[in-house]
Amino acid sequence: MTIQDKTLLDEWHPVLLSSALTDRPVPVVVLGEKVAVFRTSDGVHAFKDLCIHRGVPLSLGKVKSDELVCAYHGWSYNGCGTCTRIPSLPANRAIPSKAKAFVYSCVEAHGFVWVCLGQPEGPMSKVSAYIPEGFKEVWMGPYTLQAAGPRIIENFLDVSHLMFVHEGLLGDSDYAEIGDYQVHEEDGVLTSEEIVVYQPDPDGTGRGVHSRYVYEVYGPLSVAFTKRDRDTDHIFRLFLMVLPESEQRSQAFMLKQRNYAYEEPDDIFIQFQDLLIEQDREMVENQKPELLPLDLQAELHLNTDRLSIAYRKRLRELGVTFGTA
Ligand code: FES
Ligand code: CO
Repeated sequence: MTIQDKTLLDEWHPVLLSSALTDRPVPVVVLGEKVAVFRTSDGVHAFKDLCIHRGVPLSLGKVKSDELVCAYHGWSYNGCGTCTRIPSLPANRAIPSKAKAFVYSCVEAHGFVWVCLGQPEGPMSKVSAYIPEGFKEVWMGPYTLQAAGPRIIENFLDVSHLMFVHEGLLGDSDYAEIGDYQVHEEDGVLTSEEIVVYQPDPDGTGRGVHSRYVYEVYGPLSVAFTKRDRDTDHIFRLFLMVLPESEQRSQAFMLKQRNYAYEEPDDIFIQFQDLLIEQDREMVENQKPELLPLDLQAELHLNTDRLSIAYRKRLRELGVTFGTA
């Protein structure tokens, strides 16, 4: 498949949690392209997952002396993709100059490995500039979803589903009304005004809670919300970055930040998120059409959907076609 979507081709996509990339190459899929990701002493690398010799996936090989060694005939590629050794070649023969791996841009930051298939706009994904330091962090995912990336992002931006899909956890269907809010854009980042969700008794103490969400959209497939408790100044932030494997299959990566409950084990947060994702899965894997319609006449919008509308407009402006209709 040839991808026409220059915006997503030039975008950095998270492909792995840093912790998942150790001493073996790992196969990933970005926009339908198979990519082998591996780590050497000087960092992370991404190659087209195909050895030029006989077409075996390079991800079947191993990393040895900071080089990627193909599993089939042992050709060895350095981090720049240059073949440095062909074991079957007599010592007096030069390595053919065409013996190269196809190299993609690859960086590691904020606990993720990122790949760009095209010409990256900058040395890192835009979202990374918005990931602040100094918080307790938990990484989650990737969650495999049989859904279009933009559908998954829009579900994350959708406040009015919290009281139904996540009733009892994030909302209460008796308190489903959402006040009007606006969405602003600055430097290509969309930011919502505070959106308030009320739960009369979330933890059985009879004490109601107002959750105040501010959403931000950094890129076509990277978003976050921040929840700030006015009394305690507790900040809870959740980033979602979606890797589009194909138009209808994605990996959702999440990073949670908080400035409270430092002692709380990460598992509790991860299990809670796992549960929320399973609830969302049933929605996003069954939506029709599967691809997110960017024509605002398709589907029906309310004022409470302002964020979704702004997101669809943004995708349109950016010319995103992969995963949209
Ligand atoms: Fe990779 Fe032969 S196919 S070395
Ligand atoms: Co949800």
